[in-house]
Amino acid sequence: MTAKQMIYADNAATTKLAPEALEAMMPFLTEEYGNPSSLYSFSRSAKKALTDARAVIAECIGASPDEIFFTSGGTESDNWAINNFVLAKFHRQRNILISSIEHHAIFNTCLKIAQVHHYSITSTPVNEKGRIILPIYKEHVEEFPDGISIMLANNEIGTIEDIAQMADIAHHYCIPFHTDAVQAVGHIPIDVRDLGIDMLSASAHKFNGPKGIGFLYVKQNTVLKPFIDGGQQEAGRRAGTENVAAIVGMATALKLNCERMSDNRRKLKNLSKTFKTIISEHLPDAVFNGDLIRRLPGHISLSLPGISAEGLLHVLDLQGIAVSTGAACNSKSTEISHVLKAIDLPEKLAKGTIRITFGPNNTEDQPRYIADKVIKYCKKQG
Ligand SMILES: Cc1ncc(COP(=O)(O)O)c(C=O)c1O
Repeated sequence: MTAKQMIYADNAATTKLAPEALEAMMPFLTEEYGNPSSLYSFSRSAKKALTDARAVIAECIGASPDEIFFTSGGTESDNWAINNFVLAKFHRQRNILISSIEHHAIFNTCLKIAQVHHYSITSTPVNEKGRIILPIYKEHVEEFPDGISIMLANNEIGTIEDIAQMADIAHHYCIPFHTDAVQAVGHIPIDVRDLGIDMLSASAHKFNGPKGIGFLYVKQNTVLKPFIDGGQQEAGRRAGTENVAAIVGMATALKLNCERMSDNRRKLKNLSKTFKTIISEHLPDAVFNGDLIRRLPGHISLSLPGISAEGLLHVLDLQGIAVSTGAACNSKSTEISHVLKAIDLPEKLAKGTIRITFGPNNTEDQPRYIADKVIKYCKKQG
């Protein structure tokens, strides 16, 4: 089946490259191949493209250009932020505080730090909506961790956390605060100054940019240790010749997404509403997970009791519909995800959980089409 015949509803896994981003990238994949670090005039346009892209990205999130560090994507940004808690030696408790619903890019980085550097990792719990339980969080902050990382929006259940409030509590105790905003950047308004955070991770392929490129925002005057050693790129903090074309594509895609954000959000909310209304009408036992109000637009986590999510996904796939059973990064696992466990979803529901994430490319009739197929499958099983 070609991409044109598919109904793609897995935009939390990745998004389609914006044609404008591809167009902006093309010169740097063809004629303008100069190395931005070279001194001759041929490299000037690559160097200028980097400077412009940095400024565009900074403006989109309310940062200044020297606070943006290009990386290979969300995973690297998360790895860097967490390792920086260790390398920068902000405090010496040898403890990092995260939440129980972080992405594996955070979890597994912490696991390694625990093993290699003998740190303890505290995982602060969430309620049934996936929201951090603030009084418990505050108690954990008072244990004075070296750094805190709490995701802005969850990839599996779509819940948006109150990052500004949590960063404020962290700063009361002078503890640096990082947020994994990979699912949020380009989709909901983000101003790093309003959030009051020290570091933020983002990834271009989640907002219609190319894959393999992202950035880490680091607030001015935050100690930032190099994570990849080598040359002097990225102010000596992240070595390696920059992926100029991808960086230009990322900046173009982010700018477009920010310009279209309110229209996109309106459209995605309507698509979700149509889908949910039809499902609720025909499958009254169906459960929608996450915070139903503070959530990513177009993000649906649906649990169907007594249904196998893998079976449903397979049947939908045969009918040309791409959805996911949960986190794409974890799709090989048939185990119940740590996120669904963290929100205490009963096993019967967790096993029947699919994630549908609409994007601006989805048409008005697609939610109804997908819902019809889901309902048919469930009725057949039941
Ligand atoms: C919340 C979150 N963090 C990090 C990542 C990893 O990003 P990347 O695919 O750019 O490495 C993902 C990808 O799904 C994600 O959803």
